[in-house]
Amino acid sequence: RILILDFGSQYTQLIARRVREIGVYCEIYPWDVEPRAITDFAAKGIILAGGPESVTLADSPRAPQLVFELGVPVLGICYGMQTMAEQLGGKVQGSDKQEFGYARVDVVGKSDFLAGIEDHIDDDGVFSLDVWMSHGDKVIELPPAFHILASTPSCPIAAMGDETRHFYGVQFHPEVTHTKQGLRILKRFIHELCGCEALWTPANIVEDAIANVRAQVGDAKVLLGLSGGVDSSVVAALLHQAIGDQLTCVFVDNGLLRLHEGEQVMAMFAENMGVKVIRVNVEDKFLSRLLGVTDPEEKRKIIGRTFIEVFDEEATKLQGIKYLAQGTIYPDVIESAGAKTGKAHVIKSHHNVGGLPDDMQFELVEPLRELFKDEVRKIGLELGLPYDMVYRHPFPGPGLGVRILAEVRKDYADILRRADYIFIEELRKADLYQKVSQAFAVFLPVKSVGVVGDGRRYEWVIALRAVETIDFMTARWAHLPYDFLETVSNRIINEITGVSRVTYDISSKPPATIEWE
Ligand code: XMP
Repeated sequence: RILILDFGSQYTQLIARRVREIGVYCEIYPWDVEPRAITDFAAKGIILAGGPESVTLADSPRAPQLVFELGVPVLGICYGMQTMAEQLGGKVQGSDKQEFGYARVDVVGKSDFLAGIEDHIDDDGVFSLDVWMSHGDKVIELPPAFHILASTPSCPIAAMGDETRHFYGVQFHPEVTHTKQGLRILKRFIHELCGCEALWTPANIVEDAIANVRAQVGDAKVLLGLSGGVDSSVVAALLHQAIGDQLTCVFVDNGLLRLHEGEQVMAMFAENMGVKVIRVNVEDKFLSRLLGVTDPEEKRKIIGRTFIEVFDEEATKLQGIKYLAQGTIYPDVIESAGAKTGKAHVIKSHHNVGGLPDDMQFELVEPLRELFKDEVRKIGLELGLPYDMVYRHPFPGPGLGVRILAEVRKDYADILRRADYIFIEELRKADLYQKVSQAFAVFLPVKSVGVVGDGRRYEWVIALRAVETIDFMTARWAHLPYDFLETVSNRIINEITGVSRVTYDISSKPPATIEWE
């Protein structure tokens, strides 16, 4: 396994995902972690990641000196390279000038690290690589025993290495896809120089996770809140394989789900897989509490609180439950660790289940705690969940509650459910569903005039929203074909009584958000 030390860069998680893609387990630790934790992790190689600060400043972060004394290969990327240079006796020059974007670096000299990896060979036999740079500072003096391995006119030491200790530094970013040979460079480091085999595969992950769950819970009973979303579904499938009937799932139908969603969850888990699922139909409870409430944050609070109350009631009815299972994934763990130490640049995240009451005396089972979303999806497939379920768009915890831009009423929800269903169905038919990151309909409490045949209609408006995004922090509205939008709009207006107009949302995030509320 590989240890990645984080200096606060947004790319650190991407490095970790690449290492895992290569088939090797890795974890991210903050740069100032206890040295003991580093020794205990027993990595076969260490990657020092990037960071926003400048090593030329006295109080900027440094790698624990121990990293260079463990006798394992070390790769410094960007800031990681600079701090490595500085700590081992080289020199870094500060600069306010940023080099940002594409660069072509010449591979200089021979090394175990870059030998035979190139994008171009010019007439003089010089090998070069297309890479992606993003830095201001640069290394201007090599530490003793290091050689230059790559250079550009503006950054003469673009890569450096000490072949004896297998310490390497790259100023460019091998983890981004714009660095065309990036994956090969990382593979070279991880497989060949660190000697890690590609054992981190979906089948092995599932096998390990099952063994761990069994070891943790023994013959105790486990409760899981199943929402039908990817994470909780994968947890359900995994726990079912690991502990069978010791697992009970509670599926709360709050009346704010998509069309047929409750039936689908029951069909898949209870009927097909034989998982014990208790479906609690509490539409009335949710709707009565939401009566007259229009403020979005207020709606979110009511929905969250009511969910916890219902879940708590069900849990109390069940006897002898010791564990509560949750679909926490690795980015949540990293972000909350960062939030605790106040170091990582914390990114806002939404959670489906706000904290459960303290008096619920459960221990936690979190079998996805070490996994990234793409790994969760892969093991979902490995566990036999259908592709369409595992690659579903995200759906917010408060559900249709925040897509009805008014008081939440059943008749509004019913109209919205049907419109949303038509939109998604057509996206799938047109092979566009996987091309957008999230798509849904929104109910607008606005009456608009229309004509159908000879009749005049004065009815509601539906807005359609589809976005493309990588991280849901920024998003672009999806440029869906006009013909496609026409089909969807016609179907919604013709098939749903109560809708006389359909609009398409062409706002990006920022300044708009993905949801309307
Ligand atoms: P926004 O609207 O903030 O949405 O651009 C970003 C992503 O978060 C989802 N979202 C939520 N998820 N509870 C959730 O579980 C919420 O209250 C919530 N609000 C927004 C949204 O669907 C999008 O994927």
